[in-house]
Amino acid sequence: MHKIFLLVIVSFLIVSCGSTEIAERSSWEIIQEEILEPNCVACHTAGTSFANQSNLVLTKDVAYGQLVDREPNNAAAKADGLELVGTKGLESLYNSFLWEKINYPDYEHYYADHAEYGELMPLGGPALTYGELEYIRTWILSGAPEDGVVAESNLLEDEDRFEIPTGDYQPLAPPASGMQLNLGPFDIAADFEREFWYYRPLENPEEIYVTRFESTMREGSHHLILYDYPQGDTPDPETFRDIRNENGFLVYSTAQSIANQRFVWGTQTRNTDYTFPDGVALKLPANHGLDINSHYVNYSPDMKQGEVSVNLHTVDPSEVQHIAKNIFLSNTTFSLPAGKVTTLERSWTFNETRNIFLLSSHAHQYNTEFRIYIVGGPRDGELVYFSKDWEHPPLLEYDPPIVLNAGEGLRAEATYNNTTDRALEFGLLSVNEMMIIFGAYW
Ligand code: HEC
Repeated sequence: MHKIFLLVIVSFLIVSCGSTEIAERSSWEIIQEEILEPNCVACHTAGTSFANQSNLVLTKDVAYGQLVDREPNNAAAKADGLELVGTKGLESLYNSFLWEKINYPDYEHYYADHAEYGELMPLGGPALTYGELEYIRTWILSGAPEDGVVAESNLLEDEDRFEIPTGDYQPLAPPASGMQLNLGPFDIAADFEREFWYYRPLENPEEIYVTRFESTMREGSHHLILYDYPQGDTPDPETFRDIRNENGFLVYSTAQSIANQRFVWGTQTRNTDYTFPDGVALKLPANHGLDINSHYVNYSPDMKQGEVSVNLHTVDPSEVQHIAKNIFLSNTTFSLPAGKVTTLERSWTFNETRNIFLLSSHAHQYNTEFRIYIVGGPRDGELVYFSKDWEHPPLLEYDPPIVLNAGEGLRAEATYNNTTDRALEFGLLSVNEMMIIFGAYW
């Protein structure tokens, strides 16, 4: 915190002492000169076979026009409706083929779900630094302007790079303060989707304050969600409760056991490290427990194994200013007609002020787009969340938080392409559909 503050002061001094004639470089110029030039231009120069193959030239004279408001050359990306870089901010980020191509930390999703998108860039690696990625992400979120400063240049000081993990699954190192939940290895039969809940008493004699969740999973996971039971009707401890039996039919006792669960935390990526905003913590009462919900997909002809490791990092209550609460807004009353594209809309308003710092969505395979807008107040109608990927919806963080006052709320707009010959309704299994806003606020 101090370091960032100092940097701000120092850069302020530099800017204010320097003569005003030296114009500050625009964010685009910084991207061009500091990121594209050293990492991409060697290949993406007119006349090279790489430039011909990608139909993309990133030299200074043409790069902006080559990237912004332009269709991809890659046929699959084009068919998916992506642009290289659009100028609609948030929506454009999740529609950006440039972002897909450079977002190395998401490599697993990229290669598993988009085999036709070609290689991650820079071709042959290494990945851009986290700072460079964050700089480009911020620029796209700000509408990808050619002029003006829209990203803090100190972002580029983060020079660490993502590396594709090698070797076998490694459980997490236990947290310095907090607790660790490990589960597995457990079997996932060939050509089967295994989803279960497993209730773990935390054996915490006192209440705990969680500020960070860290998780890692063996390959093949679709999602991991932690739930709890505020009404106290907890399921049997330390027991695998599968949602479908080996013939694929719903196990009713499992469905019943999760009726009163409450979402605590979740992720759809294999390695996640999520820290709450400064001073915000999730409070878990004494003698609490968490229901670990793991969903693995194995379309291969061989039995596979799944495994999950989660760290709950805790702090002393004196460090906590705000208690985090969950947002779980689920539309359970809908019917999507067979063979049609349908867009559902549903609004929720709140009766007290909420500082929302996290949003995500949940839907199943027929969902093609999920949007969340603000309802009421000065930001009425603003799009704050966008996902085109039902399997890996983004977990969007808001800093500063979205402040909604009493009477204001959120509106979800979700589009489904029901390619089946039957109407789809709300349901737990992946042959049904869902429309849920997940999130957190204080
Ligand atoms: C070693 C050569 C090489 C380097 C370095 C390289 N690229 Fe590429 N790039 C290619 C090739 C070859 C293709 C076409 C095949 C593919 O998409 O995998 C391509 C394709 C692309 C595409 C897709 C274009 C389209 O419309 O289909 C984008 C975007 C891209 N590169 C961006 C970058 C960026 C940004 C960098 C630097 C961070 C970079 N590339 C570095 C060789 C390279």
